[in-house]
Formats: sequence, C-alpha cells, structure tokens
Amino acid sequence: MLEAIRTRRSIRRFKPDPVDDETVERILEMGTWAPSGLNNQPWKFVVVRGEEVRRELARQTKYGHILESAPACIAVFLDADESYDRTKDAQAIGACIQNMLLTIHHLGLGAVWLGEILKNRKSVEKILGVPESCELMAVIAFGSPAASGGGGARKALMDVVLAWK
Ligand SMILES: Cc1cc2nc3c(=O)[nH]c(=O)nc-3n(C[C@H](O)[C@H](O)[C@H](O)COP(=O)(O)O)c2cc1C
Repeated sequence: MLEAIRTRRSIRRFKPDPVDDETVERILEMGTWAPSGLNNQPWKFVVVRGEEVRRELARQTKYGHILESAPACIAVFLDADESYDRTKDAQAIGACIQNMLLTIHHLGLGAVWLGEILKNRKSVEKILGVPESCELMAVIAFGSPAASGGGGARKALMDVVLAWK
C-alpha cells in the first residue's frame, strides 16, 4: 500500500485501449469504501466512455486534450440530498477520489484528477444530465498510460510540519 501511495503520479496521456465494465466497477467500488462523516456517502458518479460526450466535456476545460486522450473518465459529484456538512462531505469526496486514483494505479492504469473543469461545472452538470442536487467536484480521466508521470516533487517534511510537541 505504501508503495502504491508513493509511486502514484498523475498521468495525462493515454493509449486508446478501452477500459472494460469490470474495471470501472472495481474502481467505483473502491471509491465507495472511503470514509465519510456519519457514513453518509455523499458521492455520486457519472462514467463517461463515449467519444462524443467526452469531446463535449473536453470543451469545458483548458485540459480538454487530456479528456480527449483518455478512453474513460468518471465525473464525481457531491449530492446535496445526502449532505449533512458541506466541508466534511467535500473531504469525504476527496478521500473517495484518492481511493479511486490508487485503485487505478494498482490496476496498472493511470489517471489524473481534473479540477480546472469546475469553472464550468454548471455546463458539465447539464451535459451529463445529473439531478439538481448534484454538484460537480472533479473529473478523473483514466486509461492505459502512454507516458509516465512527472517527478512528483514534494515539500520537505520540515516545511510542512508546524510543530512536533
Ligand atoms: C483538487 C485537484 C485539482 C487538480 N486539477 C488538475 C487539473 O485541472 N489538471 C491537471 O492536469 N491536473 C490537476 N490536478 C493534478 C495535480 O496537478 C497533481 O496531483 C500535482 O501536480 C501532483 O502531481 P502527482 O499527482 O503526479 O503527484 C489536480 C489535483 C487536485 C488534487
């Protein structure tokens, strides 16, 4: 597990190889094992593999080339109908997304968490036809990697640990 956490990197170029249903289901299921406040599981998902819809989504972000290259993506939503505390629900969804990224990595695939697309979240919600209660939190683009990730430089612990008492 530690190796998976340490070696996962954002992948932004993909081979066209399709991702099968079983693989998508496994990724989603692992996402749902994330912790959530009161175990309210506030996440909802839309899986997109069709080329036409992916192209439409691609137009909503300056990272559209990534969505066009990826054979699959998962849009992740916070469902206000399941919400009890916005901050905690958003944190739970972050944990859910990280679970999915790590699962994708474990399966030998690659992924990137796309957040810039949130600037057009209303358009994305309309394109995907989600209920009013669902707010876009991120889009995960994934597939077989066609390039390796970046170096993934991290700040030194001494720069992020404020105190050790
Ligand atoms: C909230 C959030 C939003 C992000 N949005 C984007 C994005 O819109 N486009 C992109 O290429 N990468 C995006 N990323 C990926 C980050 O750039 C990446 O995780 C960071 O540079 C560290 O690299 P690594 O994932 O390879 O360790 C996002 C990551 C997070 C957590």
